[in-house]
Amino acid sequence: MIGALTAGTVASVAVADRLVVAGAGAVGAAVAWAAARDRLAGEVVLVDPDPGSGASRVAGGMLAPISEAWPGERDVLELGAASLARWPALAERIAEDAGTPVGLRREGTLQVAVDSADVADLERIAEHLRAWGRGVERLTGREVRRREPSLGPAVRAGIAVPDDLAVDNRRLLATLAAAGRARGVVADGRRVTRVVDDGARVVGVSLDGEVLEADRVVVAAGAWSAALHPALADRVRPVKGEILRVRARRSSLPPPTRTVRAAVSGRPVYAVPRDGGRLVVGATQYEAGFDPDVLVGGVRDLVADVERVLPGIADYALEETAASFRPGTDDNLPLLGPVGPSGLLAATGHGRNGMLLVAVTVDALTAVLRGDALPAEAAPAAADRPDVASGPAARVR
Ligand code: GLY
Repeated sequence: MIGALTAGTVASVAVADRLVVAGAGAVGAAVAWAAARDRLAGEVVLVDPDPGSGASRVAGGMLAPISEAWPGERDVLELGAASLARWPALAERIAEDAGTPVGLRREGTLQVAVDSADVADLERIAEHLRAWGRGVERLTGREVRRREPSLGPAVRAGIAVPDDLAVDNRRLLATLAAAGRARGVVADGRRVTRVVDDGARVVGVSLDGEVLEADRVVVAAGAWSAALHPALADRVRPVKGEILRVRARRSSLPPPTRTVRAAVSGRPVYAVPRDGGRLVVGATQYEAGFDPDVLVGGVRDLVADVERVLPGIADYALEETAASFRPGTDDNLPLLGPVGPSGLLAATGHGRNGMLLVAVTVDALTAVLRGDALPAEAAPAAADRPDVASGPAARVR
């Protein structure tokens, strides 16, 4: 929803050092804004026919590295932690340029358990957090309910992770659009169908057949990135997710103020607060290609699982259901920086962590655009790392 950007058409004239960013989700819009802010190109063009309409629009907005990664995925966790640490400063810089806040929330996360297997999982998560020096507090069911009275009697235990953040994804998209505009990012409302190179270096992007010349191209097209250049083929795949957006009514129990996460019958579920008594409830996860439909079964599972934890939610208004596609990679790390011909840069493959990893992605891409190497914390996510050969089924979680 970054309609605030005037999505025109960039004339196909040569501009010294033009940077094209393909994809105006949170990652692409943030990279374009930062590149323009730091004057890292003669012109920054952000190309997207429907800005902010993909996974960024459907995101929960949790900035919570532990709960979105397997504890064994050390590199994913480290990258997420590095990004979380960068988020407050990033939010301030975007807000300064946009003139409005991005909607960062600091209430933290409550991870709760409803059966004995979940209680064991909680202990494991708590140990990882402690080993990392992150603040974490073990809570009984009663203590959890004292903090969040909307949690129901099925909740047996919990851990509080006060350092986690959350961001209003749609407000962030609007704010990034305003910040990009303030810094002179040029919006082009066409679709990049492929990146064009001469065998050695990038020469432009094809926009439905017409070539827009460019010296460098950042592919930030999320789940759609693989089709844009052979160097990215098979590196990113769609991982479908469905969410609900609900609103507490006057008669309802007030919603939680913290992000609430749980595993119910082995299925992860989360409820992330938004202003106005709203919650984003998510998310299903399927390897189903680009199937755009919200399925009845997906909604049923989300409602059943979240109701177990927040029983009062049955009285909330169901305002929206939505589906989109996380950009999955075989090792659950994003693809950042140079790949393939000179001038081609990736900022994609962020999987479940797109919002969280915006901050570290901005730093990684601006370093590369400045001519530096990928920063050390982003090195495991280097886009030119060897591909992991594993089938999609191995990656579902
Ligand atoms: N990060 C939330 C999700 O992928 O569902």
